[in-house]
Amino acid sequence: MSGSRAAHSTSTHRWQEDPASAADRPVLRAVVFDLDGVLTDTAEYHYQAWQQLADEEGLAFDREINERLRGVSREQSLDIVLAGRALPATTRKAWLERKNAYYVALLGRLTSADLLPGAQALVTACREAGMATAIASASRNTPTVLAGLGIAELFDAVVDGNSVVRSKPEPDVFLAAAERLGVPAGQCVVLEDAEAGVVGALQAGMWVVGLGPAVRVGRAHARFADLSAVDLATLRDAIAAAAWTVRQHDGSADSVRHQETVFTIGNGHFCVRGSFEEGHPGQAPASFMHGVWDAMPVQVTELAALPAWWGIDLWVDGARLQPHVGMLTGLERQLDLRTGLLTRGFEWTSAPGAPRVAVRFERFVSLDDRHTAAVRVGVTLLSGDSATLRVRAGLNAHVENTGLVHWDLLGQHADGGSANLLTRTRTSGIILGSAAVVQADPALRTGSGDADGQPCVELNGLLQPGRTTMVTKFVAIVSGVDHEDPWAHAQALAGQAAGGGWERLQAASSARWAALWRYADVLVDGAPEAQIALRYNVFQLLIAAPRFTEQASLGAKTLSGFGYRHHVFWDTEIFMLPPFVFSEPQVARNMLMYRWHRLPEARAKAAANGYRGAQFPWESADSGAEVTPTWVPHFANPHELVRIWTGDVEIHITADIAFAVLQYWRVSGDDGFLRAHGAELVLDGARFWASAAHLEADGRYHYRDVIGPDEYHERVDDNAYTNYFARWHLQQAAALLDWLAEHAPADAARLRTHLQLDDDETDRWRDVADRVLLPVDPDTDLLEQFEGYLQLTDVDLPTLRSPARTTSMQQRLGIEGCARTQHLKQPDVLMLAYLLPDVLTARQHQVNYDYYDPRTDHEHGSSLGPSISAVLACRAGRPDLGYAHFLRAARADLLDVRHNAGDGIHGASAGGLWQAAVFGFVGLRVRDDGTVTCDPMLPDAWQGVRLRCRVHGRDHLVEVARSSGGVSATVTVE
Ligand code: BGC
Ligand code: BGC
Repeated sequence: MSGSRAAHSTSTHRWQEDPASAADRPVLRAVVFDLDGVLTDTAEYHYQAWQQLADEEGLAFDREINERLRGVSREQSLDIVLAGRALPATTRKAWLERKNAYYVALLGRLTSADLLPGAQALVTACREAGMATAIASASRNTPTVLAGLGIAELFDAVVDGNSVVRSKPEPDVFLAAAERLGVPAGQCVVLEDAEAGVVGALQAGMWVVGLGPAVRVGRAHARFADLSAVDLATLRDAIAAAAWTVRQHDGSADSVRHQETVFTIGNGHFCVRGSFEEGHPGQAPASFMHGVWDAMPVQVTELAALPAWWGIDLWVDGARLQPHVGMLTGLERQLDLRTGLLTRGFEWTSAPGAPRVAVRFERFVSLDDRHTAAVRVGVTLLSGDSATLRVRAGLNAHVENTGLVHWDLLGQHADGGSANLLTRTRTSGIILGSAAVVQADPALRTGSGDADGQPCVELNGLLQPGRTTMVTKFVAIVSGVDHEDPWAHAQALAGQAAGGGWERLQAASSARWAALWRYADVLVDGAPEAQIALRYNVFQLLIAAPRFTEQASLGAKTLSGFGYRHHVFWDTEIFMLPPFVFSEPQVARNMLMYRWHRLPEARAKAAANGYRGAQFPWESADSGAEVTPTWVPHFANPHELVRIWTGDVEIHITADIAFAVLQYWRVSGDDGFLRAHGAELVLDGARFWASAAHLEADGRYHYRDVIGPDEYHERVDDNAYTNYFARWHLQQAAALLDWLAEHAPADAARLRTHLQLDDDETDRWRDVADRVLLPVDPDTDLLEQFEGYLQLTDVDLPTLRSPARTTSMQQRLGIEGCARTQHLKQPDVLMLAYLLPDVLTARQHQVNYDYYDPRTDHEHGSSLGPSISAVLACRAGRPDLGYAHFLRAARADLLDVRHNAGDGIHGASAGGLWQAAVFGFVGLRVRDDGTVTCDPMLPDAWQGVRLRCRVHGRDHLVEVARSSGGVSATVTVE
């Protein structure tokens, strides 16, 4: 049975069963064809039949209205044709029959000559390759049509309007086809020409290829004009590429900031949001670079948005290209996750009668040279004999961070080929050199512009029909944090990039990406949405994690937006670090080193609170001092301020960092790091826990006035997560001292001296660990989240689980109101159960899961929750429930399910998604001796998973596959 827990075995995996697909390609076993508009053009006959009926009845109808009937059922088609006019039921029926009679009469004339070009060859090729074939059509005349065309015997299954009740856009026809073929939905590819069909096939969880224009089938995973040039190899390539592609085809203005976040690209040093080259009202354009921190008086520290380097302004016949002005059609934006290349193409005209142009922008941030990026645009004239083109490509220092200006202008110059800018952050004094070299068609006349803060290259020329005019901009940005003479260096790098050219720069970057993906990719068989979302979320972490420095970490919103001002929370160590620990350990190490370098500030924070050791800040920026804002505007009324206590009392982060250090060490086997740096982090953190514990009259140690992971409840006593983690941290520290004494006595001695650790102190560690209050009820095995939690008003389940709810429970009940109830913003006791499974008994796991999971605001609480709930559901033996949580995390940014993706990527959700797949569904574990094991629990849709990881310096290939015998896993040391 699907979802059943499988034994760890060594069976062979199934990827080879599909010989034509290379190992990293989606497995495709069946092709499901829509009929009308895909294999034949009965759409034309439908049109003629409707037109005849409409003419006879005096209804307005033409080819344009007919477009809307594609893929739609008869009944719905009639509604469209009637355009609101009511008809008695009997007349309706009679009209439908008449239209059908006209249609069937026309069908009688069908022969194989009516097959669309390429159709039969593709069906035949699929069959010869061993793939199953099916028809999924809304038409009730399918048998007649297939017979007329003479291709009925080419299909293993035919599902049509006669066999299913709910027509497209419901997924029923497709699901029925897959079932008849005996092929899992996610291994089917559907060919569709109608929007309703594309939507239905996506809902069915299949790969979808659209045939037709983007406005109609742009939602599909891939798109062709028709089948005339599509052979099986092309089809497979398109799906393979689609599995690495995030697409947008709808440019509606209300999602502009969301899409801007989604299309963030970068290289582990700097990132740029998907802000348009030509600008757009309502966007929040920004590019951020590690290390470029600034603080303004009264404001907390944040990364200063870099001077805008990606801009290219265009004028066609004097009209400035602005996507929201004039008429824009055929928008297709896509991000290639394999290479980080972002492209955006569309057609545009400024006004009726003005020249129409096709415009295509491309950009990437080089993974090969961390300071470099490139942008280019191609403009093609589509109407008229010629049009003037003016291009302005430069740099712009007039940028802001949500109203705050961080830059002073120090210098600028521009000439016909380049633009250069020197700026300095206002408070931190960081120098930034930016340089752009512009290359263009020799036919364009070049000049320059030097408006204050906006040096640029200006180009002027003529567009001619059928010729694409290209302008390419090579950019380098260097900060004084990374180089002594950042401006000269930036100019040299931009010149070098331009000298090598676009192709070379891109090839070098793509080669680096390929090397990264070898370890970072998680291949999922049978679940298109999950596959793309996993790659996307990992991509967002890969572009933002500090690849080149140990003086930076990964903010809660990565480098993709203004949210949380790039501050580093526990999100980094607990949620985002694990994918790096397993795939790119040196980057994980950089992030841990960021903490180590900031030990002095953590010690200062502990001392200021009257504690010893190192207490890490809840929010951390450049120095490592606490940067949590103390007051923020109330969510309901921005004129009212709310006191934020997290920076004062959300102390669990110190243990979370120790957890990450030890996880990194256990998986990487990097003893050198542990001895030189990691141990100090763990030991000095333990010292904080020992000193912050209060021994009270009950003979127990307490931690009072804290905030646990569930921030719906603030300033509580004896939070279970905090107290259990304090104990764990103290125990680990004691064990670490023993390990050091045995394996690295010199380091043990050095650390004891350096930290002035004596036996009295380590005795106290043990005492606190032994006697810290652990709030577990011995009768029920329930851990009380904090003292008094179980006495609070119970949750309002009908509201909590209502699909109609669109706001968080805290927004509904108010901050205090919510705190008086048991509603949880995110797992707390269960977060403990997730991270430290061994501290709970099997019964405690079950009892606490059953109690706390239903009380959690999975839908609108913290975005950190769903991925963890996914793993916990797997552990509870319910992978399909886990999958519902997984999809919620998968959609956090791509579909903006929380309506705040415009502020930046939900980094913790991204890292959590990886954990849900790898620790949840794959069930990957690393034993203390470095052995990798799997205990898989796949959701029904998933047919297999494959990933590589590095454990103790060795490459492991992990493969999980479902077969008739169940789910099996193999781990191969490569
Ligand atoms: C969550 C915290 C998280 C923070 C930053 C809050 O909403 O409750 O757990 O650290 O966001 O992502
Ligand atoms: C988060 C806290 C954070 C605070 C200030 C809140 O929304 O839940 O974790 O410290 O914002 O940034």
